[in-house]
Formats: sequence, C-alpha cells, structure tokens
Amino acid sequence: MDFDADRVRACYPALADGYAYLDGAAGTQLPDSVIEAMAGAYRAGLGNSGGAFPASLRSDVITAECRRAVADLTGGRPEGVILGPNMTTLTYRLARTLAAAWGPGDEVVVSRLDHDANVRPWVQAAAAVGAGVRWADVQLPGGELPLASFRHLISDRTRLVAVSAASNLIGTRPDVAGITALAHAAGALAYVDGVHATPHGPVDVRELGADFYATSAYKWSGPHVGAVVADPGLLESLAPDKLTPAPARVPDRFEQGTLPFADLAGVTAAVEHLASLAGLAAAGTRRQRILAGMAAAEAHEQGLFRVLLGGLDAMDHVTTYGKAARRTATAYFTVAGRTPRQVAEHLAGRKVNVSDGDNYAWELAGVLGLRDSGGAVRAGLVHYNDRSDVDRLLEAVAELDR
Ligand SMILES: Cc1ncc(COP(=O)(O)O)c(C=O)c1O
Repeated sequence: MDFDADRVRACYPALADGYAYLDGAAGTQLPDSVIEAMAGAYRAGLGNSGGAFPASLRSDVITAECRRAVADLTGGRPEGVILGPNMTTLTYRLARTLAAAWGPGDEVVVSRLDHDANVRPWVQAAAAVGAGVRWADVQLPGGELPLASFRHLISDRTRLVAVSAASNLIGTRPDVAGITALAHAAGALAYVDGVHATPHGPVDVRELGADFYATSAYKWSGPHVGAVVADPGLLESLAPDKLTPAPARVPDRFEQGTLPFADLAGVTAAVEHLASLAGLAAAGTRRQRILAGMAAAEAHEQGLFRVLLGGLDAMDHVTTYGKAARRTATAYFTVAGRTPRQVAEHLAGRKVNVSDGDNYAWELAGVLGLRDSGGAVRAGLVHYNDRSDVDRLLEAVAELDR
C-alpha cells in the first residue's frame, strides 16, 4: 500500500505549529487545497441559488459537485445526498420527519454505543408520538455491540434502528450490515451514524445496508458541513417541514435555508484530497481512488494504533477502554491519580492535543462508569498523524507515573 505520510502531512499547514494533533476524532485540520477551494469560491463571486447570472450559477454548480463528491465518498447516489450544517441538525430533522408516521405500539431501537446525536433525536421523536424505545446494550469489558442482542430487540413493531458504524469513544465497529439486515427483514429502516467511521476506512452505504448514512465533513479534512446519504426513492416518500416557496424536489426539500456554498466547495476538495491519499498508485474513477486512499489511510492508522495501544497498555498507571475485534484507531484511557482534564492539560503542555470527557457518547460513558468522573482522555489517530505524534504522547503519559 502506497502511503507517504510526509507527503500527506505537508498538505496541512496547521501541522507546522509543532503540535501532535491527536484530536482528529473531534475535528480534523484542513489541507491547503480545501482552504484554497473555499477562498477561491468567494474570490470568484457567489450568488444565491437559482439566479439568472453566472455567480448564482456557480453556487448551483458547487452544490451539484458537492453532492457527487459525497456520493463518491460513501457509495451513494448524488440525488440522495442531503447537505446541512452538521449531523446533529440533520438527524433531528429526519427524526421529526420519520416520526410523523409512527404512533403508539411502534418502536425504535437505539444503542448505548452511540454518540448522543444518534440516540436523543430518536428517543425524543418517539416520545413525541407515543412510540416506544428499545436499547441495544454494550458488552463489557470488550465494548462490543453484539449482533445477537438486536435479534431480541427488533420485531414487527420496529420502525427504525439507529446504530453507529463506529464508536467515537472506543472505536468499536459493530456488524452494521448484519444489524441493518435484521431491521430490513422486520420492515424497519436503518439510520447509520457514519460520523466517526467515515475518516477511518472505505465506506459503501449499500454494503452497510444503510437507508440513511450520516457523515460530517469536518471529521475528514473538510469544513463544518454535515451530510445524510439516502436512497432518493426513499426521500421521495418523505415530507419534511419546509417553507412553502422552498424547492419541493429531492434532496433539496430536506435542506432548510441557504446552503454554505463556499464550504461545499471545500467539501468537494476534501473528497479529492482523500482520493489522493494512496498517491500515484491509485488510478481509475474518483470512487476507485477514494477506496484505495481510504484503505491506505486505514492501514497507516492501524499500524500506528498498535504502537499507541501497546505503549498505553504497558503502563501500570494507565487504564484503556474497549477491545473490540474491529475498531478504529481511537484510544480512550484514564491515568491513575489524575482527572482526564489534568492529563489533557499536561499533554497540551507537551504539545499534544487530545480530547477529554464523554465526547457526547453519553450512554457509553455511563456504561463504562466514567460519566460522573469527567470521562476519560481520547487520543484518536487520523491519516495525517505519524510515529512522532504517537511517541510524544506516550512519553508525556509516561511522565505522569510519579
Ligand atoms: C460518532 C459521532 N456522531 C455524531 C456526531 C455529531 O456530529 P455533528 O457535530 O456533525 O453534529 C459526532 C461528533 O463528534 C460523532 O463523533
């Protein structure tokens, strides 16, 4: 696999500040190409959508290109790509839309592995219409979300199953294809949270069986834009709240208000960047180059992750959480005698950026027994991290053994 970490790192101007950016799971840095694409869109002149003049046309072209790019990244169809401010907002919107067809006796299935953005919108939407909620539990100590437990939860009452493609705390990758197959066999829809999974490997929404697949560009080298990828035919059957004069066509009718056109140009550039990660070894369509690039990124991250986890697990004063068989390169750990915030502050002093807390995986932090003690420290690898980032983190954590 051709992955040139130095070449990739040189694309990111922010990395020149000398910090080890191990906070990618909370949001990634941007390559120059993405920054330039956004600045270039503004420089060229943008108008609002639907006008009779070139600047307006440019905005419409940018939007169409962005839908194609997100479709290439996820294996979906451009006409099914809903764009919006972030995953949380889009999920609330879709939960309200879908719940309009639910009532007493219907059920949704959510999991305790998930980020709260793929839990609370469904729990609240169900409560608003008198529908029930069933919970899929995380198995300890490994942190797996077993497929078998969904067999007991999904029934002919189930309307929707919401599940994460990867945990943003401990990296667990559940058997999403197995879970969505169970949902479909029961006549239910599957809403897959791909926010944490998308930057860590190839994605194919059809293989996953995701009726909806949510992702956020700021987790994969893009700006703050969210997207939900769905089958256009399914979207045609839904009636979201919309302003009367706003477009009625799909997917536009799910997009409330004016889109951030310059940011959308940045999203397309971010997808192009991911398509370039495998270097010259990758050829073919953009989709094929993305798959090669993300496979190369995954191999790079997993190699570093073995060093990171091995190093943390070798320290007596460190406890790591999660040991799932399939997981992203995301470490979650505590240090004896220090709060997660104290550890994060110490690491910041050593020029290492990490997250601390529950990172909104509210249920999982509770299951792990960490919710009331400030959560834990999260060090997440993405494709632009290298061995020096990992070594610096390990050296700085080792210093806390005194
Ligand atoms: C797994 C996961 N789901 C959902 C979200 C929420 O995404 P957004 O910030 O786009 O609303 C996050 C953000 O950290 C996340 O990690």
